[in-house]
Amino acid sequence: MKKFSYFLAAVLFFSGFQLKAHEGMWIPMLLRQNFAAMQRMGLKLTPEQIYSVNHSSLKDAIAGLSNSPNPQGFFCTSEIVSDQGLLFTNHHCGFESVQKHSSVKHDYLKDGFWAMSKKEELPDKGLTASILVRMADVTDSIVPFLSDTMTSQQRSAIVRPIISRLKKANADSGKYNVVIKPYFEGNKYYMLVYIVYRDVRLVGAPPSSIGKFGGDTDNWMWPRQTGDFTIFRIYTAPDGSPATYSIKNIPLKPKYHLPISLDGVKEGDFAMVWGFPGSTNRYMTAPELEFRMQHYFPPLIEAFGKKLEVWKKHMSANPAVQLKYASNYAMIANSWKYFIGQMRGVKKQHVIAKKKAFDEQFAKWVSENPERQAKYGTALKDMTDAFASESKTIEPLIYASITGMQGAELLSFAQKFGSIEGILKQVKETKDKAQKAKKMERAKKMAATLAEKLQKAYKDYDMPTDRDVFAAMTKMFFEKVPENLHPEYLDKMMKKYKNNFGAFANYVFEKSHFSTEAKAKAFLANPTLKEIEKDPAYILSQAYMAKLMDASSGYRAAAGNLAKGKRLFMEGIMKMQPDKVFYPDANSTLRYSYGKVEGYYPRDAIHDLYQTHLYGVMQKEDSTNPEFIVPKKLKELYETKDYGPYGENGQQDVDFLTTNDITGGNSGSPVINGKGELIGLAFDGNWEAMSGDIAYIPKLQRTIVVDIRYVLFIIDKYAGDTRLIDEMTIHKAVPQPDRVEATTAGAAATK
Ligand code: ARG
Repeated sequence: MKKFSYFLAAVLFFSGFQLKAHEGMWIPMLLRQNFAAMQRMGLKLTPEQIYSVNHSSLKDAIAGLSNSPNPQGFFCTSEIVSDQGLLFTNHHCGFESVQKHSSVKHDYLKDGFWAMSKKEELPDKGLTASILVRMADVTDSIVPFLSDTMTSQQRSAIVRPIISRLKKANADSGKYNVVIKPYFEGNKYYMLVYIVYRDVRLVGAPPSSIGKFGGDTDNWMWPRQTGDFTIFRIYTAPDGSPATYSIKNIPLKPKYHLPISLDGVKEGDFAMVWGFPGSTNRYMTAPELEFRMQHYFPPLIEAFGKKLEVWKKHMSANPAVQLKYASNYAMIANSWKYFIGQMRGVKKQHVIAKKKAFDEQFAKWVSENPERQAKYGTALKDMTDAFASESKTIEPLIYASITGMQGAELLSFAQKFGSIEGILKQVKETKDKAQKAKKMERAKKMAATLAEKLQKAYKDYDMPTDRDVFAAMTKMFFEKVPENLHPEYLDKMMKKYKNNFGAFANYVFEKSHFSTEAKAKAFLANPTLKEIEKDPAYILSQAYMAKLMDASSGYRAAAGNLAKGKRLFMEGIMKMQPDKVFYPDANSTLRYSYGKVEGYYPRDAIHDLYQTHLYGVMQKEDSTNPEFIVPKKLKELYETKDYGPYGENGQQDVDFLTTNDITGGNSGSPVINGKGELIGLAFDGNWEAMSGDIAYIPKLQRTIVVDIRYVLFIIDKYAGDTRLIDEMTIHKAVPQPDRVEATTAGAAATK
């Protein structure tokens, strides 16, 4: 599952239940917490082989993907699968990158992309891969200096300098990216030391008809037959150190890479997942959940739903638009379905009632003695109050950001002209001639840089689509956001246009300098203050921004003692259940989860089996539905049963299920068997357990995995990129004639 990242998730951040079965996203350095349990389930490795700071170990093969040179978190997970830095992740993780390299002529999203030599591998400027060098518990350097009577501002004033000192002391003069994060709501702090590789190149991606087979219809669902993988490679400077792109760079020589098993999986097999889960709220209380159900999800679903509807209309009508909006559409459609599924799951699983019962148990425990009263007595109330007050401010904030500021792309283009306006103002106000000329010179330079930046933005822009989005989003803003947060300009224009949003949109797009690349370029060749200041898109974007600031300051003020309430509640429930081993909520740091291969029972009398096959692809084939097209070559391979070493008994397995506990950010995570071999890539969760980020449901919650043998089958037989197969370490157990089960000792490379 990919991590959702858009504005709201960043502004709103957003846990008890008895720990069950395979629940938990565990901290790597505390491997021993679950080691015995994992051994009982089939793990054959030693702790040192998995997580070691002194020797190479499994953790050295796990890399977090980000678009930042110094990432604080990761949108997806990837793993190294060769001694030349080859990386596997999901197709939906590489989607944006594949789209950026595509054009209508070379549509890699549609046709797939395969570099047949290292020379053909495509650099992805900005994409980074981070590997955890080590981690440490730094709680004792921070928490003793804090107290419950401090405000959150006072706390951060103390925490901030300690963190920067720790970062400096551990970065080895800039060699490492050091990240320090609160765990357990700030009751603990851990330091993560990463090495960040900054030259990551696209190596191969199947066509979307394989990598995204089933599309949004099958997304978040089982049974599934998706080949959700994409291949990258990490490059380094010739001396092996991280470097940004250069033709002199060489493939990474990793400390460790995962061997791959061709033995397949069967129900009950041990499975371990390593990766970077983004965020969960497993210790969330009932008031927060009620808040989400009533005030948070509904406006998000409404606003995103509308935008998707407009996009879809234009995308279906025009293949060029289809390509331009594919990545943004997929991202929002994915979150949109997630919100709907989560609401549905919370209702169906009676999560609020369960949370209420737990909150009551906690309240009773607190009331049992005066010390507890003094320490934890206000925790629940602080949270309840905060959500009561946030419930008044959240909806306008969501509408204002999604339908206003982020409504149309035009407004974000216009926003970018803010700095030019600033400098042109200075030009105007400067009297001294020489000074004036100097400033004008700077404005021209800024304009040139902006023109260059905009070129990339306009590549994926379609004006008629955006104009319709603008009309629909402006209408929703106008109707849903309270009047005190309306820009005056908007109200004035709506009077003039008699609430005809389409007509207003026509006016804005006609008049604005930013609605086409040509207009924007012409303007930037000779920018004037007067023209910016009367540009309707510019006026609106500035006004939306100002109103959004108003709305979010109201929202922040409403938070009150929320952080304190959460921290004390977390500390309290841990004291209340002294024998339970707790795991912290996901926070985009490296975690492991363990479980086994297993199907489930979604409804009465229905048993969903753990595995799908290529014939399932054929059963779903629908040449009239873009989500269910099967590429010709794949059909041929199916018909001739040309599966090579990747099939079994005349069949090609495709996807399978495990009981691992994962969430967004784990997308692309390696699924590893008891011998430490790669058996698949985690890529999704199932519809029946969509409330899983709030409450794990052992009987229903599954991780959906693409079988590594399907991945290799596509690389080898479908794409013919055999050079990639040759560089991997592939294991296949050799059946012993006098013994039924396959042996580890007999493991041998097939190549
Ligand atoms: N649900 C998956 C996740 O959150 C994304 C799958 C992408 N596929 C799709 N049809 N949109 O990571």
